[in-house]
Amino acid sequence: MRSALDGETDAVAMLSTVVCELHHAFEHFDWTGFYRVDPAKERELVVGPYQGAHGCLRISFDRGVCGKAARDKKTVVVDEVRAFPGHIACCASTRSEIVVPVFCAGELYAVLDVDSNTPAAFTAEDREGLEAICAELGRALRVAA
Ligand code: SME
Repeated sequence: MRSALDGETDAVAMLSTVVCELHHAFEHFDWTGFYRVDPAKERELVVGPYQGAHGCLRISFDRGVCGKAARDKKTVVVDEVRAFPGHIACCASTRSEIVVPVFCAGELYAVLDVDSNTPAAFTAEDREGLEAICAELGRALRVAA
């Protein structure tokens, strides 16, 4: 992933490249995208870029799996979204989900949200890989800022 972002300074180019590479690399990734912290709003995430079906445009830090990851600044893995209180069902086919925070210069910049139509689709290996990619992305965004 590092080489794909090398030398790039545009955030949209970087985020969309990460989403594209991930979404097409793994069959169990049915919706892959970022919810970015909106600096103009209080504790609110705004969608994009993403691949997959139409996603909710905005998510409060108080709602859903993405909101929990943004609030706690930690990865959240949900094996069965129907059992997660407050899960936001943007897409009825989603069964499991992983949300990983992205930090830039120590501040929460976005969360990476991956949804799967398969229950308990995300492994410890997925988590480690996605966390490493999000850390790399955060460093690349910092250099570009
Ligand atoms: N399921 C998420 C909302 C985002 S979408 O699934 C694309 C949540 O509860 O945060």
